[in-house]
Amino acid sequence: MGGVLFIISLFCNLLLLQNPSFSYPLCTNSRAAFNPKTPLVFCPYSGTVCCNSTQELSLQQQYVKMNISDFGCAALIKSVLCARCDQLSGELFRIDSVPRSVPVLCNSTVSANSSQTSQSKIDYCAKVWETCKNVSIMNSPFAASLQSQAGVPITSNFTKLTDFWQSKTDFCNAFGGASLDESACSDGGPVTLTNTAGTLSPPNGMCLEKIGNDSYLDMVAHPDGSSRAFFSSQEGKIWLATIPKDGSGGTLELDESNPFLDLTHEVHFDNEFGIMGIAFHPNFAQNGRFFASFNCDKSQWPGCAGRCSCNSDVNCDPSKLGTDNGALPCQYHSVIAEYTANGTTSEFSLATSAKPLEVRRIFTMGLPFTDHHGGQILFGPSDGYLYFMTGDGGGTGDPYNFAQNKKSLLGKIMRLDIDNIPSSVEFSKLGLWGNYSIPKDNPYIEDKELRPEIWALGLRNPWRSSFDSERPSYFMCADIGQDRYEEVNIITKDGNYGWRAYEGPYLFTPQQSPGGNTSINSISPIFPVMGYTHSDVNKNEGSAAIIGGYFYRSMTDPCMHGRYIYGDLYAGAIWAGTENPENSGNFTTSQISFNCARDSPIPCSFKPGSSLPALESILSFGEDNNKDIFLLASSGVYRIVRPSRCNYTCAKENVTAVAAPGPAASSPPSKASQLSHPYKNLMLLVYSLLLLFLSFV
Ligand SMILES: *[C@@H]1O[C@H](CO)[C@@H](O)[C@H](O)[C@H]1NC(C)=O
Ligand SMILES: *[C@@H]1O[C@H](CO)[C@@H](O)[C@H](O)[C@H]1NC(C)=O
Ligand SMILES: *[C@@H]1O[C@H](CO)[C@@H](O)[C@H](O)[C@H]1NC(C)=O
Ligand SMILES: *[C@@H]1O[C@H](CO)[C@@H](O)[C@H](O)[C@H]1NC(C)=O
Ligand SMILES: *[C@@H]1O[C@H](CO)[C@@H](O)[C@H](O)[C@H]1NC(C)=O
Ligand SMILES: *[C@@H]1O[C@H](CO)[C@@H](O)[C@H](O)[C@H]1NC(C)=O
Ligand SMILES: *[C@@H]1O[C@H](CO)[C@@H](O)[C@H](O)[C@H]1NC(C)=O
Ligand SMILES: *[C@@H]1O[C@H](CO)[C@@H](O)[C@H](O)[C@H]1NC(C)=O
Ligand SMILES: *[C@@H]1O[C@H](CO)[C@@H](O)[C@H](O)[C@H]1NC(C)=O
Ligand SMILES: *[C@@H]1O[C@H](CO)[C@@H](O)[C@H](O)[C@H]1NC(C)=O
Ligand SMILES: *[C@@H]1O[C@H](CO)[C@@H](O)[C@H](O)[C@H]1NC(C)=O
Repeated sequence: MGGVLFIISLFCNLLLLQNPSFSYPLCTNSRAAFNPKTPLVFCPYSGTVCCNSTQELSLQQQYVKMNISDFGCAALIKSVLCARCDQLSGELFRIDSVPRSVPVLCNSTVSANSSQTSQSKIDYCAKVWETCKNVSIMNSPFAASLQSQAGVPITSNFTKLTDFWQSKTDFCNAFGGASLDESACSDGGPVTLTNTAGTLSPPNGMCLEKIGNDSYLDMVAHPDGSSRAFFSSQEGKIWLATIPKDGSGGTLELDESNPFLDLTHEVHFDNEFGIMGIAFHPNFAQNGRFFASFNCDKSQWPGCAGRCSCNSDVNCDPSKLGTDNGALPCQYHSVIAEYTANGTTSEFSLATSAKPLEVRRIFTMGLPFTDHHGGQILFGPSDGYLYFMTGDGGGTGDPYNFAQNKKSLLGKIMRLDIDNIPSSVEFSKLGLWGNYSIPKDNPYIEDKELRPEIWALGLRNPWRSSFDSERPSYFMCADIGQDRYEEVNIITKDGNYGWRAYEGPYLFTPQQSPGGNTSINSISPIFPVMGYTHSDVNKNEGSAAIIGGYFYRSMTDPCMHGRYIYGDLYAGAIWAGTENPENSGNFTTSQISFNCARDSPIPCSFKPGSSLPALESILSFGEDNNKDIFLLASSGVYRIVRPSRCNYTCAKENVTAVAAPGPAASSPPSKASQLSHPYKNLMLLVYSLLLLFLSFV
């Protein structure tokens, strides 16, 4: 693609869904907020909420039973109860930490030291205390909170706040909370989200430096917090590498001939096969445990043997599948295997290699076709469980409807407990596929039709997921589409992301469906929060494949901070998604131009006759312990660096304060710096057009 064409294809991709179904915010049950079928009547909430009419009725009954004689206090207690219905209830009740029985009540002390004087919050916590302190409340939620958190026995069902707390300060120490920092608090009505319109304009460019020449599919920061990271190649090797300090001019220190682990004898490597993911136990430094997710060929390796995902439980007859690209059904498998670092307890961080023998097989499943099998694995930052992303198993249009089939593990996100090996009773009762047990709050508890492993469903080929390192409830997952739409989803418990009833926000009609259909009315799909159509990136309706990235949380490029970055495999395009208001799940996306730093440690290649760097295919993204973001492309490893190194302007970048560039800066000007000037002018033009466009929305 020539430069001119590329510039023309730069545009602002605003995704405004007509019939929104929300994937965020989160409710107290970890599920997504929703639009209720019947409006709420007791609680003053409308729009996106966390209560249906049944749940609202039970809040009303709870309220009536409290028998509060004081009207003023009764109204406040009602609003405290109704905060359960707020679209941000998960946040108000802090589901990420100790679950609360009372939401965080807004404390005025916070606004005092804020520079933003326009935001004056009432001291709601003080108001609750002053109004209710001397009022008897039966089964008071405040007393319940004390009981559950401190184990204090409550002698009478009728309690006053003054029975437990001496003063407003005591009371607000327990229940008051911030309103102006990252987290929300209740002031008696629906939470108003912070408007981020000021940061909405996209950065005018992303600057990259090349630090490695090789191609990897996965990069995982070392759990010990050091500047090291593990890299895995699709072919079957895992390396431990040291990441050069930003601005040092160094390259990735990785000894090609000394992998941390070599699995090439077990791994089947082909177009969509290989090592698909690696994950290190949160306590890796203490226990040395780590996991690899890869594909194998049962005709090549005896360890490659498991149940076939095409079976009678899921309306699939393997004998009818025929051969796919010459392969028999379930000749290839998805495997998660556990390994251990070669070290001793308390010294696993020092290990530079792993023991080659598999410690334990976690999961094995035969695959129906030769494509779409996802395969990434990630530990949840707040729950410590292993999340495993699977694709729909392949074929055009998911012919067997596996992704919607609740008995199939294809097209799913699974959530597995790998710390507890199941008892033989649990193993056979639940018909488990491997050596893991099922977390007690997996959604099958409420939906008996679901396989117990399933956390979310309706995915086609999830390719690269990540948790926001600042907000663990933002579990981002990009899902590769078929003919029309590439999507980014926020994964929530029991969420159905629509495939193959929908492709992104569009209805999808399968060409064939031997496995049966899912009726549109039987599901409540959660639509993507970001995405693009194939025609956006390719005028010929050709190939597109989304590569999910990360929320950028480093300050290396301050203009990129807080934005979600993702790309496309074929188009070589990169987008940044900006959320507004904060915590709303409402994103605006824009394609971001990028260039290579003139002082890049490894000089970048450029497209013939163009000033644009030739990354070849973007395959994946990575994040290190500094929260810097890396592009893993077929041409090498690139780090996002300070915009000024590419002569991009970012008003927030303190250009004078940054450290002097490394040794590479004194080398002769690279092709990048010679060519970036005319490009910069073009970029300014595009940037102003973008601003113009945005001002019309
Ligand atoms: C409300 O939600 C609860 C819990 O998810 C569910 O059991 C109940 O059936 C729902 N009620 C209605 C009327 O949708
Ligand atoms: C509710 O309170 C009133 C007085 O405030 C009292 O007469 C009545 O018995 C109470 N009801 C219950 C169920 O405790
Ligand atoms: C609290 O209520 C009791 C009776 O319910 C009353 O005797 C007492 O004076 C009240 N105290 C305050 C500070 O209002
Ligand atoms: C008082 O609380 C206890 C324990 O929660 C409960 O068993 C009892 O039924 C309550 N009494 C009334 C009158 O609600
Ligand atoms: C809330 O306010 C009280 C004083 O009224 C203070 O002691 C407490 O630290 C505040 N809590 C938070 C979380 O800011
Ligand atoms: C990367 O490749 C370039 C060009 O082949 C070579 O000059 C350079 O030494 C390589 N750098 C590293 C760190 O492998
Ligand atoms: C494990 O480490 C020990 C001690 O450093 C070394 O002797 C041994 O060769 C290593 N084994 C493997 C499989 O790397
Ligand atoms: C459990 O792990 C053991 C040891 O790796 C393995 O032999 C066995 O096949 C595994 N079970 C399943 C169901 O994968
Ligand atoms: C499923 O839907 C497709 C397209 O709407 C239709 O052609 C097919 O007959 C349906 N199959 C079944 C089993 O209902
Ligand atoms: C979503 O973001 C757009 C662009 O910032 C804004 O115009 C719109 O009002 C937002 N929608 C909601 C529901 O907040
Ligand atoms: C980029 O910026 C540097 C430092 O301000 C300047 O010396 C150089 O001429 C610029 N290069 C281009 C191509 O604009």
